[in-house]
Amino acid sequence: MPHMRERSEAWLHRSERVIPGGAQTFSKSPRSFVQGVAPNFLARARGAYAWDVDGSRYLDYIMGLGAVILGHADPEVLEAVRAQMEKGISFSLPHPIEVEVAERLVRLIPCAEMVRFAKNGSDVTSAAVRLARAFTGREKIACCGYHGWQDWYIGATERHRGVPDAVRRLTLPFPYNDLDALSRLFREHRGEIAAVIMEPVMFDPPSPGYLHDVHELCHRHGALLIFDEVVTGCRIALGGAQAYFGVTPDLACFGKALANGFPLAALVGRADLMRLFAEEVFFSTTHGGETASLAACQATLTKLEREEGIARLWHLGAHLKDGVNRLLTERQLTDVITCVGMPPFTALRFRGRDHEEQLALRSLFQQEALARGILTLGFHMLSLAHTESDIQWTLTQYAEIFDLIADAVRRGDVTARLKGPPIRPIFRQA
Ligand SMILES: Cc1ncc(COP(=O)(O)O)c(C=O)c1O
Repeated sequence: MPHMRERSEAWLHRSERVIPGGAQTFSKSPRSFVQGVAPNFLARARGAYAWDVDGSRYLDYIMGLGAVILGHADPEVLEAVRAQMEKGISFSLPHPIEVEVAERLVRLIPCAEMVRFAKNGSDVTSAAVRLARAFTGREKIACCGYHGWQDWYIGATERHRGVPDAVRRLTLPFPYNDLDALSRLFREHRGEIAAVIMEPVMFDPPSPGYLHDVHELCHRHGALLIFDEVVTGCRIALGGAQAYFGVTPDLACFGKALANGFPLAALVGRADLMRLFAEEVFFSTTHGGETASLAACQATLTKLEREEGIARLWHLGAHLKDGVNRLLTERQLTDVITCVGMPPFTALRFRGRDHEEQLALRSLFQQEALARGILTLGFHMLSLAHTESDIQWTLTQYAEIFDLIADAVRRGDVTARLKGPPIRPIFRQA
């Protein structure tokens, strides 16, 4: 039964008149979903489930793009936020909860000696970069991964329109797991690189010793190492990938899962660096000390600790990842699709003869998953609200979808099976 989409269409129509792109986040916009099939708007969500504006229910594997780690509308978080709201949200002086949450992050995150708060991951990656430039007196930044919408990073991507060339030239992307490439950058820009900022792990694990070697290389060249833990923080381990892999950077950026969907980001790191924010380096926002999100953060961390949440995410994620890869092997589809990543955050990697075919495969998968009640961008952001039976049910649905994809690949009619225009990726290499 195709889902009703009348209200979704009507809201999209209204939205496109007043909101460019129809969303605040590229990954939530119509371009990221097969149109004519996907819901465009969600009305509510609870636990691991979300309901669209036409009333259809989905098992949610997007989870607010990784922000919702406990589950939607978690009662403990809502209670903590309600209690804080009664006392006030935005004060005219700092509130003690800022100190309490900062102290907690210092206990949890290996590199954290001091902490500053903000709202989005982009706020804190940009603050980290400015701090590194101020500390080293150098201007260039080497980066690996995605780090947000600000000029210093997005200028180095194909979506650089509006970023001055002078800024673009200062950011030097490098590939993951390739120490020689980073060494080359340091040689070619000798004495000019202020910091390496990187996602410590994405979907491929670091080669043995890689993160340690990057750390060593940075310090040998007088540069700082910044881990962008906006995705990995509070997901792979409470203290982030640095705790999991045992490599301690100079600074780290946390965001997304910190407050179960309430807007909170944190820049943490060495005290001698962080103290520059006291006077010399400007990092100041109206909402940085907003207390509802800090209360949400306290409740989120408390529940994750009490329920050994991270271990549960690993366990559930391993069940899902192993199950998906087994289904793919049984259908001899492993040349086309594999499930990759660390168990708390895995993704399906699609391979086609070319970019178009890869997108068609990804789109066909999404179309069929949505039709079966799974909300997906092709990855699995697990939460504590997902259960073993959700995973088991997902695998049953995936078995049907992979049968269908195997048949489409055999017959060469993947594109013809799409009921709407394929997904348009944000970056070509996505
Ligand atoms: C690794 C990483 N860093 C930074 C960001 C930017 O965070 P935000 O979108 O909250 O500004 C993101 C967002 O997806 C991210 O995945």
